[in-house]
Amino acid sequence: MGSENLAYALIQVVHNFGAAAVLGGAVFILWPMPRLEFAHAFARLILLAWGAQIASGILFGLTSLYYYGETPDLSKLAMAALAIKVVAAISGLLLTAGYLLRRRSWPRWQVKRIFQWLAALAAIALTAAAFLRWFS
Ligand code: HEM
Repeated sequence: MGSENLAYALIQVVHNFGAAAVLGGAVFILWPMPRLEFAHAFARLILLAWGAQIASGILFGLTSLYYYGETPDLSKLAMAALAIKVVAAISGLLLTAGYLLRRRSWPRWQVKRIFQWLAALAAIALTAAAFLRWFS
């Protein structure tokens, strides 16, 4: 029980900070005024954070498999919420990687649009997380 709770808690620490970084990083670039001069540095942090979300999300599942021999039996709504999170995380990762690879060819308005999308994807994933938690 102790080691199981510790495993879940440590994974949750990574998952929580990753969630804070994907939303907070994108919002910092946009609000209260656009700060696109920091976009490159923050995109690297945000890329790392989307990666951490995917890795820690997978680790949640693997931990359940290790301790129970199966993943939790989710309701349809919880499954939909999880699917939304997975799609948001993969989209966020690809969008951020695309920005980092091609950023020099994009005008300011397009960079701003990318960070707006990143903030929206993070907000969608955080909303889905609440439904996953309470409709499991
Ligand atoms: C591949 C993507 C992801 C997977 C597989 C995944 C999986 C999970 C799992 C299994 C849990 C535990 C659920 C529970 O305690 O009932 C969880 C919790 C959570 N996830 Fe994710 N997640 C992913 C992406 C994200 C993203 C992108 C965010 C936010 C930006 C996020 C935010 C959260 C939060 C805030 C919780 C805690 C919810 C609570 O206990 O109240 N997750 N996630």
